[in-house]
Amino acid sequence: MSEVHEVATLADFETIIEARRSYRVFDTEHEMPEEIVQKALEAALLSPNSSNMQMWEFIRVRSVEMRKKMVPILLNQSAAQTASEFVVVVGRANAWKERAAFNYNKLAEEYGETSDRFARVKQYYGKLMPMVYRSDAFGIIGRIRKVMASVIGLSKPMVREVGKSDILATIHGSNSLASMTFMYAMKAQGYDTCPLGGFDSVRLKKLLKLKGSDEVTMVIACGKGKPEGVWGKRHRVPYEKVVKTV
Ligand SMILES: Cc1cc2nc3c(=O)[nH]c(=O)nc-3n(C[C@H](O)[C@H](O)[C@H](O)COP(=O)(O)O)c2cc1C
Repeated sequence: MSEVHEVATLADFETIIEARRSYRVFDTEHEMPEEIVQKALEAALLSPNSSNMQMWEFIRVRSVEMRKKMVPILLNQSAAQTASEFVVVVGRANAWKERAAFNYNKLAEEYGETSDRFARVKQYYGKLMPMVYRSDAFGIIGRIRKVMASVIGLSKPMVREVGKSDILATIHGSNSLASMTFMYAMKAQGYDTCPLGGFDSVRLKKLLKLKGSDEVTMVIACGKGKPEGVWGKRHRVPYEKVVKTV
């Protein structure tokens, strides 16, 4: 805690929050050092994510050839035309076995396989996570899970969002948090971003050779933003309108 206070203050953080904008034009003359995105991605990997399952993959699109191919897929947006690099944030619904095993093994190492704490880990990553994430092409397993959740929910509080699309929403939620960390980390290094949801997902998946079960959360255009890349003032619905206290 004290360490955090020494390295950063709320004022520093607010400066980054204020300075980050979606840049629609980047400086095409500027050469962004390779390690800027790497550093920001390293920060992104520390983001909170559901059950620490880290169902994400980040694809860096750096080559001129690939970037050119991305532009029409990103609907020829100006941010896409001028970006130095794209980071494609992918949700990997089929990574659950590997990611559950990762947590299982790490915690076995940390807690010791015979500890009481690890008995809970065994249940969580050995039984619960496979139960939650297992899926099939038609979403039948998810529908069965949803019915089971409704039945259990009759007698006690229960997570209801256990269908196939619910799980995807959870994956995109975690990926969005990582995307936000990434964009702040870019800004903290003096670089700019534009999150892009406007793209042809079918063509993008084909170009990047993604699996059918993979989904793109967003594409983040990165580079040195030009002043004209910010289209105007920042308008936000007032605090009182969107924040409720009960
Ligand atoms: C999920 C998501 C998708 C977005 N898609 C696009 C996009 O396709 N093109 C674009 O120019 N901006 C896109 N944006 C940027 C928003 O328009 C922008 O964040 C918003 O207008 C607020 O402006 P600010 O980021 O400068 O504060 C997207 C933002 C998010 C979070």
